[in-house]
Amino acid sequence: MPSSVLRRLLFAALACCVIAVVAAGCGGGDDTTSGGTGGGETSAEGGGGGEEGGGDSTIALLLPENETPRYETNDRPDFEEAVEEKCPDCEVIYFNAGGDATKQQSQGEAALTKGADVLVLDPMDSKSAASIAEKANAQDVPVVSYDRLIENSEVDAYISFDNERVGELQAESLSEKLKEDGSPKGPIIMINGDPADPNAALFKAGAKKGFEAAGVEIAKEYDTPGWTAENAQREAQQAITALGNDGFAGIYAANDDTGGGAIAAMKGAGINPEERPVTGQDATVAGLQRILVGQQYMTVFKSIGPQAQISAEIAIALGNGEEVPKDKITEEVNNGKTDVPSVLLEPVAVVKDNIKDTVIKEGFVSAGELCTGPYAAACKEVGISG
Ligand code: GAL
Repeated sequence: MPSSVLRRLLFAALACCVIAVVAAGCGGGDDTTSGGTGGGETSAEGGGGGEEGGGDSTIALLLPENETPRYETNDRPDFEEAVEEKCPDCEVIYFNAGGDATKQQSQGEAALTKGADVLVLDPMDSKSAASIAEKANAQDVPVVSYDRLIENSEVDAYISFDNERVGELQAESLSEKLKEDGSPKGPIIMINGDPADPNAALFKAGAKKGFEAAGVEIAKEYDTPGWTAENAQREAQQAITALGNDGFAGIYAANDDTGGGAIAAMKGAGINPEERPVTGQDATVAGLQRILVGQQYMTVFKSIGPQAQISAEIAIALGNGEEVPKDKITEEVNNGKTDVPSVLLEPVAVVKDNIKDTVIKEGFVSAGELCTGPYAAACKEVGISG
């Protein structure tokens, strides 16, 4: 057993028994504290039974929020399943910060106290998350940066999508549509993501590159705290009031939730969203349904299954005291402190016509989920049958 693993085991045992004095129990950390998805923490033991199926480490998964459906619907279950399959004796302890960076700090500390052998951290705030990474480093616990890059700290691996490409895809597809609609220059309203999220800056940079290349003008621009639909709606309302109902040709929204907010603002102002293309991201059921009926123009599909699987494999190796498996790494990304071995997956643009060949084909959403009541006819039109 490598000495770093031994050190961590000793530390974990010590930490657990220190807590035991207070909490009366040293049961191996498979307890449920505040439970549920509302920002709490739960743990799930791997399938069990298997002998030495990749080690028996404790892997902490820390996700940033539960506003965007992906985290509870895809990331968490996909990650837990991948660990269960590849390392039946490993345990995943799960935390969701519920959009609160301070809460994520304490969750990071709790994960370390519970003896996590590796942290898989999707930072709520990429800058303040550095202190979680530092605490982990100080205890010899490796850190995997999941989906969002933790800045200015020692991070062992980073698994995400090509996030600048996400922005480019959104801009390219909106620019094309504006051209088709006879408004090649826009102008557009830009509803960007959360300023604390490093991915939001990359989406924005990629999108601006695309709009500049296409000659599309940006009339108003906002960052959206917390990525919430409510904030996006308020921003779009402000823009519409300032520009007038005929003062813009489309809306760039950084994800499906903010796109939904922008569409609600248009409806509120008496504008038919079918006549003003809106972008999105995450291929949520609500986003795809709006695309089916023509209220949202496009979304970006990021296949979370592979992202979660690769992250699980890397976390299992690190939790076992091994190096990051080199064959998985595709590039290095600098986080301000170090070149982080990284895997960046390819995002895919989705419009009405390729819903069937992308998200449905990959099983990301099912026809049953999508083609309910008012959407059944549109599903039929594009050959999706439930
Ligand atoms: C980003 C993530 C997106 C989106 C957004 C809102 O960091 O890459 O997929 O979900 O956060 O949480």
